[in-house]
Amino acid sequence: MRVAVVPGSFDPITNGHMDIIERTSALFDRVVVLVAANAEKNPSFTPEERVLLIEKCIGKYDNVMVDCFDGLLVDYVKQVGACAIVKGLRAMSDFEYEFQMALYNKKLYPEAETLFMTTSTENLYLSSSGVKSIARYGREVSDFVPAVIADQVLERISQVKGDK
Ligand code: PNS
Repeated sequence: MRVAVVPGSFDPITNGHMDIIERTSALFDRVVVLVAANAEKNPSFTPEERVLLIEKCIGKYDNVMVDCFDGLLVDYVKQVGACAIVKGLRAMSDFEYEFQMALYNKKLYPEAETLFMTTSTENLYLSSSGVKSIARYGREVSDFVPAVIADQVLERISQVKGDK
């Protein structure tokens, strides 16, 4: 069985992530969407909240599941026997960082390949941080995240602003 891991912060999941997940699910037997810690980011949603949001979005895919892991990505990849790490690339600006991570991951666990998938043109500008900036000011985000979670994301992020 060919298993792919689609890792990310998913803080929160966007339509851009969903596009990568859907296209990966057509290429592999099983896909694990992995909520992983990015030491350089200060997330707005807890890992458990991000997993719950993702669960609501992936129901229609039989071969996609979600998990979270606080450790090195390659250790998780090895644990689940995945052969590939799939990441979406929006622009050249994503490339340098992603390429560096791919090389570290290859060195740490040569058995898995990192595959970069080109983001669909309609999602090129999307980012979780952009979505949060909009939600923080109370504007709905249903154009940018799956409809099933749009209200929840807006409510949660605008609350964070209200608390400050
Ligand atoms: O959505 P992001 O923030 O671009 O995802 C980055 C992520 C979470 C995939 C990356 O930071 C990661 O793999 N974190 C787990 C820890 C790890 O393995 N770090 C070493 C990579 S060089």
